[in-house]
Amino acid sequence: MVELNIRRQDGDRIWSENFTVEDRPGMTVLEALFHVQERIDGSLCFRYSCRGAVCGSCAMLINKVPRLACRTQVSEVKDESTDEPKDGVASVKPSGKVEGRNEILVEPLPNLNVIRDLIVDMDHFYELVDSIKPWINKDEGEPEKETLMEPAMQVQLEKYTNCILCATCHGACPAASRNGEYLGPAALAKAWRFYLDPRSKEEDRNELLKYLNSDSGVWGCDVVYKCVAVCPKKVTPTQGILDLRGKME
Ligand code: FES
Repeated sequence: MVELNIRRQDGDRIWSENFTVEDRPGMTVLEALFHVQERIDGSLCFRYSCRGAVCGSCAMLINKVPRLACRTQVSEVKDESTDEPKDGVASVKPSGKVEGRNEILVEPLPNLNVIRDLIVDMDHFYELVDSIKPWINKDEGEPEKETLMEPAMQVQLEKYTNCILCATCHGACPAASRNGEYLGPAALAKAWRFYLDPRSKEEDRNELLKYLNSDSGVWGCDVVYKCVAVCPKKVTPTQGILDLRGKME
């Protein structure tokens, strides 16, 4: 058996609740939450869709670390310690092990408003990503044939196109926790992806650099690599931010 200690919220009311779940081999934290919702308390709210680390819906704070609940196994995390992070910002790895602890702390993702229980409002996050205009402008209508891309460029872009917009990076970001206007790692990584794309037009690249050249843009990053450490898809926002800075100097 394992105890889930879940932080719950309904409007202004915030409380913690413990639920005991039978720990089956291979069980994920998402499955443990299903068990609670289906058999113990149907009012527990959390978000999910694919259950396979593809959609990014199930990001939450598990033992103070932003993670996807569907790819986090109960057995991996039930004996982790959950000391408060020293800087008050989410950790990037567990602070240690406590043999036989058998408890998992589950909280909503930080730096976003809670709608209810483990569900956060993603609108602000999506607005930040949209603000960098993550698309390619084409004037000349439909091309007659496909635009070919060098394999090396494809590899470079893939490091960024793998993002599933789960917002674990945003939840781990100290700059986002201080400044709600900060574009954040996901939006800035996407900006670098579109800057790099050979199909982007020069004028759009220049406009993008102008937009990002501020303390709420690339200069707001603390360069502490927390986003890189928690990304479930191995995207490297900090590197993209540094590369964007390089284009401005
Ligand atoms: S449910 Fe889709 S990523 Fe977890």
